[in-house]
Amino acid sequence: MTKIIFISFLICIVPLFAVVCGPPQILQSEKIVKEINDDKKSTWKADTYGTKEINVEEFKQKYLGVILPFKYDKNKEMEKELSQKEYGILKAKEEKLPAYFNWAKTNKTNCPVGRIRDQSNCGSCWAVSTASAMQDRFCIQSGGKINVELSSGYITACDQSNYACRGGFMNRVYDFLKINGTITGGDYDSDVGCQPYSIKPCGPFLDSHKMPCVYYLANNPKCRKKKCSNDWYKYQEEPESSTYKYSRWSFIKGNISYTTEYLMRKEIYENGPITAAFLIYSNFLYYKKGIYIPIRSWPMGGHAVKVVGWGEEDSVLYWIAQNSWSDRWGENGFFRILRGTNAGYFESMVNEGKPDIKKS
Ligand SMILES: *[C@@H]1O[C@H](CO)[C@@H](O)[C@H](O)[C@H]1NC(C)=O
Ligand SMILES: *[C@@H]1O[C@H](CO)[C@@H](O)[C@H](O)[C@H]1NC(C)=O
Ligand SMILES: *[C@@H]1O[C@H](CO)[C@@H](O)[C@H](O)[C@H]1NC(C)=O
Repeated sequence: MTKIIFISFLICIVPLFAVVCGPPQILQSEKIVKEINDDKKSTWKADTYGTKEINVEEFKQKYLGVILPFKYDKNKEMEKELSQKEYGILKAKEEKLPAYFNWAKTNKTNCPVGRIRDQSNCGSCWAVSTASAMQDRFCIQSGGKINVELSSGYITACDQSNYACRGGFMNRVYDFLKINGTITGGDYDSDVGCQPYSIKPCGPFLDSHKMPCVYYLANNPKCRKKKCSNDWYKYQEEPESSTYKYSRWSFIKGNISYTTEYLMRKEIYENGPITAAFLIYSNFLYYKKGIYIPIRSWPMGGHAVKVVGWGEEDSVLYWIAQNSWSDRWGENGFFRILRGTNAGYFESMVNEGKPDIKKS
């Protein structure tokens, strides 16, 4: 359980964009942000979020949390992956989809897609992103009838195949959501659902002076099974009818006829938000707005987010994704990232699940 999860990620790689070897231990916020904002060609803007510097190791442990199923030193494997047909352009069979689509802004349903979660100082992005996408999918695919807050705290604490605040694998959490499912629960202190998130928001993207994290990394929450932690909730123990599961799930992968990029858009459009695990580069922490492209930066580790849509701006294609670093980070908690080139491996570890809608 005390596996050293992130150490291997410090190994330098040569991914899509030229990356200089040897990550620094301390990121000088002002210098990095100035460099990005002074660059006339940059498609995005940065913000220090009031930080002078960020300790890389601390950040990796606290705010990321996906264990990527590959090692960075396997350059060959990654090249192979990038050259696969799925990134070729074979668009003949594509159905027409809108040039812009965003679940957080659409009128397609009344489902409240877009509430930003905060993982706080816990590497639980794997649980937070999947709970959020699952909740959207239950709502969207039930035509708005099943509109509940699903608990990321329950998943973080109870999915024993993963490591709670110390990280998780996407395939394992999807298995957990299929076999065990999750129960209801809103944000920290929200009094919503059976098990609201138990870790208090803190960290650099909140007002860091007012909300410092007391612990370096939050303790792993204990699994309470289905016993409710919210005294205001209608049950003391969540009944089986309030357990939400996927009936099946998959990795979205293109083939000879369709690109992964197209299948992702189609899946989002037809069935709701999906999750993507990707490689975080150090300057991503300072993202404020625009279309993020990982250049001149160091790989830091795996992170997972919910993808809600796509668009195009000045001929640059992008994804719209929802992060879990509070709504003060990025574009009110969202970010846009280059689409169609597998930037930061954003199109390599994408999952969707099918809600098991049998309950009333
Ligand atoms: C949603 O509906 C409102 C009110 O009818 C309208 O003003 C808005 O433009 C619509 N948004 C989209 C994305 O269609
Ligand atoms: C999840 O399901 C497995 C298999 O049925 C079971 O052994 C495990 O205890 C369950 N976990 C929780 C938290 O309920
Ligand atoms: C390619 O993927 C699509 C969508 O998942 C599927 O319907 C189709 O059968 C696949 N085609 C081939 C040749 O595998």
